[in-house]
Amino acid sequence: MTQNTPGPGSVALITGGAGGFGRALAKKLREREVVVVLADLDNERNRQIAADLGCEFAVLDVTDRRANEELVARIEGDHGRLDAAYLNAGISAAKSEDVLDLEEFMRVVEIDLFGVVYGAAAARPAIKRAGGGAIVVTASLAGLSPMATDPGYSVAKGGAIAFVRSMAPRLAAEGTTITAICPGFADTAIIDRIRDQFAAADFPVLSAEEVADSMIMAWEAGEPGATYVIQPGVGTVPYKFKGVPAARNAAGETAVVPEALRPPSMR
Ligand SMILES: NC(=O)c1ccc[n+]([C@@H]2O[C@H](COP(=O)([O-])OP(=O)(O)OC[C@H]3O[C@@H](n4cnc5c(N)ncnc54)[C@H](O)[C@@H]3O)[C@@H](O)[C@H]2O)c1
Repeated sequence: MTQNTPGPGSVALITGGAGGFGRALAKKLREREVVVVLADLDNERNRQIAADLGCEFAVLDVTDRRANEELVARIEGDHGRLDAAYLNAGISAAKSEDVLDLEEFMRVVEIDLFGVVYGAAAARPAIKRAGGGAIVVTASLAGLSPMATDPGYSVAKGGAIAFVRSMAPRLAAEGTTITAICPGFADTAIIDRIRDQFAAADFPVLSAEEVADSMIMAWEAGEPGATYVIQPGVGTVPYKFKGVPAARNAAGETAVVPEALRPPSMR
């Protein structure tokens, strides 16, 4: 097994690990004999979930920048390496009113976007020291197709996708692939508030297991900056971003971006 393959000897961190996707992913990684550290908010239920899955539990609030760094240092100290970081913790707005609740907006962005940024910054040097590996960010379809009912979530997930694509070249240069997965609605606690509406409309939702399969594929495929859409009845599809119109110079020719602004891989 190489470091880029989930298997015996590799070590993975999952934030929001006690949630629906986290549990399904942890189970599949454990079946491959990956050492899994489940990081989540501190409560007895979360500790028990980790124990039942044969995973180590780590207390982590992803909005605590220092705590992200300390956790990665501890994993490296205990296990000698970190091969993959699944930055998966997330919440959605509890209300969906016309009023824009700024407190709630900021809370969602803090967890769903800055939690990802802090996690990636903390994991990067450790994964590099392990010889390269993967950072897989759980974004959402809402990051590509904004939800009118949840502006904070849409901004955070859109930002997470932009972060992944922007970070990809520099991480690829050191052997780490950062990717984003964008599931449609899936059957976990996060949709508890709106689950009835899907049932009433006969709208299909994904299972956590389907999403977990895509999360493992994202690590294995190792495609820098890839963004995968996962939809019920469709499966996992790499999302193709539409390019933007290129600038033109005075002669009407396509202008080339200054070299210093291009990632090293494109120079
Ligand atoms: N279920 C869906 O429909 C769906 C669709 C697309 C994307 N997602 C995303 O998938 C990810 C996982 O969600 P899920 O569906 O498993 O829901 P979930 O509610 O079951 O799990 C989310 C987990 O994140 C944890 N968490 C929340 N705030 C945290 C914090 N500050 N620090 C650390 N952990 C924290 C929760 O305790 C929980 O265990 C989220 O980022 C979510 O936005 C979910």
